[in-house]
Amino acid sequence: MTVSLEQLRRCHVAVDLGAARTRVYVKGMGLVVDQPSVAAVNTRNGALIAVGEFAEQMTGRTPDYIRVMRPVSGGTVVDIDMAQRMLRHLLGEKLRRQLRRKPRLRAAACTPHEADPLAQRATVETLVGLGARRVELVDTLIAAAVGCGLPVEQPTATMIMMCGAATTQVAVLSLGSIVTAARIPVGGEAVDHAVIQHLRHQHELMLPSQSVRPLQIALSENGLTLQGPSTTEIHGRDVATGLARSVRVDTAAVRDAIHTPLTAVLDGIGRILRDCPPDLVADLADRGIMMVGGSALLPGLDQMLRDSTGMPVHIAERPDVCAVQGLGEMMEGNVASMVLSPLTA
Ligand SMILES: Nc1ncnc2c1ncn2[C@@H]1O[C@H](COP(=O)(O)OP(=O)(O)OP(=O)(O)O)[C@@H](O)[C@H]1O
Ligand SMILES: [Mg+2]
Repeated sequence: MTVSLEQLRRCHVAVDLGAARTRVYVKGMGLVVDQPSVAAVNTRNGALIAVGEFAEQMTGRTPDYIRVMRPVSGGTVVDIDMAQRMLRHLLGEKLRRQLRRKPRLRAAACTPHEADPLAQRATVETLVGLGARRVELVDTLIAAAVGCGLPVEQPTATMIMMCGAATTQVAVLSLGSIVTAARIPVGGEAVDHAVIQHLRHQHELMLPSQSVRPLQIALSENGLTLQGPSTTEIHGRDVATGLARSVRVDTAAVRDAIHTPLTAVLDGIGRILRDCPPDLVADLADRGIMMVGGSALLPGLDQMLRDSTGMPVHIAERPDVCAVQGLGEMMEGNVASMVLSPLTA
């Protein structure tokens, strides 16, 4: 971690701008925002109409003059101005007034592992535009590891897998730093996409864009594990006629469809384990892999990982909010700092 715990302790607000959701933690108050990273804009006059949950519900249902925008893509802020407007509204007037009272507002934000300097700059500029005088950036993997209670500062290796919407990041951590890590450009969105494509090709069924939670609809209750139900009913629209139709879908076939994007993730984990020093691999075999990020809740993903690595796999208690929670813990001073000072004879 390049930024010190001391610097983080001086921050007032922590932000995690994700491709799917935006989360904000305010020191002394806890998690105050956890909403989709979506904004709806009136293209006639540029006015913001809705943000967060409400804007997401508008997706695919808007008249021409309303555009639903996602200012964060692939873990990077791609539209700084829109991200600032969205954050301003998500925070609300009352909270903004409280933060404005701080004479030198300091913010912490997490960035994807090895984010390029331009992406980091975009995050910093977004928060500076909201009044932050200083912005500390923390690797999202370290923040999430702290957030889910992994003993990051100890000399035993731990493995964390962050399953986000746009990317999956995996790292081996020891002594408060990243030993090896990989960022795989496959996440929950790619999995959703694979299911939609499967339904379209095999059943000529289109899902309304709002049901881009197809997995949850189709496969709730362990549908993705071998013990789950063998078929499930899905409602959608016929590709040819456009009429509403429902079909019975074979869950095993859906499981196969999502295997394709997940193979890339499993390959990434294999690569990490190969790059890891043998002593650490022994630790990992004991402690296993900790899954965090919203897509860690994908039914059956943990079992798939267990089968392919032979290692124990755990899902964090609140996997979706681990990163911002970790930033919060560091900000509140709940994390003991690790001092590696030179030994004196
Ligand atoms: N219960 C669930 N089952 C399956 N998938 C889920 C569940 N809850 C959330 N997801 C998926 O998790 C993803 C969102 O995860 P998360 O909130 O960690 O993303 P993010 O932090 O915004 O993204 P990123 O870190 O990649 O920028 C979405 O793709 C969503 O479909
Ligand atoms: Mg995230």
